Amino acid sequence: MKVPTAVIISGAGSNLQAIIDYWKACDPAYDLKLVISNQAQAKGLVRAVKAGLPVMVIDHKKFATREAFDADLHQSLKDQGIELIALAGFLRLLSDKFVKDWAGKMINIHPSLLPAFPGLKTHQKALKYGVRYSGCSVIFVDEGVDSGAIIEQAVVPVLDGDTEMDLALRVLKEEHRIFPLALDEVAHGRVKLVDGLVVRTPQDDQEGVKKL
Ligand code: GAR
Repeated sequence: MKVPTAVIISGAGSNLQAIIDYWKACDPAYDLKLVISNQAQAKGLVRAVKAGLPVMVIDHKKFATREAFDADLHQSLKDQGIELIALAGFLRLLSDKFVKDWAGKMINIHPSLLPAFPGLKTHQKALKYGVRYSGCSVIFVDEGVDSGAIIEQAVVPVLDGDTEMDLALRVLKEEHRIFPLALDEVAHGRVKLVDGLVVRTPQDDQEGVKKL
């Protein structure tokens, strides 16, 4: 039984596209059921419609508080039977209640090697510090800013003369590779959040369990 999954975005949706492409090509354990954006103009919505996915816009500006927006988001996800969430360039903080409700069932992609450079302006910070390597991280979302347990990471070099755009594009290519894989692992139950820590079950062990 595949896991009913929603992707939540705010913008271009290139990670959403990677998740869609993998879903169509690789028969993953996640089943895409819904794409939600807090921005009506998000280009990612066009990608979702082209893929035949239901889309929903929940405009945060229409809500008096963060908690009210999150409650509406939560209800919309529940109404559609969603069990797993991928935040793919969703650029809003979520309230503690929402994060607790979805603990272990909500993952996020961030364009740095966490715990380095959480928050915004990631590539600018990486270039300013002069790091020789950067990358991206897929994490379980917790109550902090990009502080959740790490599911997967990929590393890229920072080259002499790199602009923020050069680095962003090099990192983005790796985001597109690892995010669908990490989502699939979580949907399979091969990667889990237990007491705030990531626990991995090798594929072989699972097959062993099934045979018993
Ligand atoms: C991606 O680089 C993602 O890692 C970043 O926003 C971009 C969205 O691009 N997310 C964050 O910085 C979250 N802290 P996309 O809309 O083309 O997928």
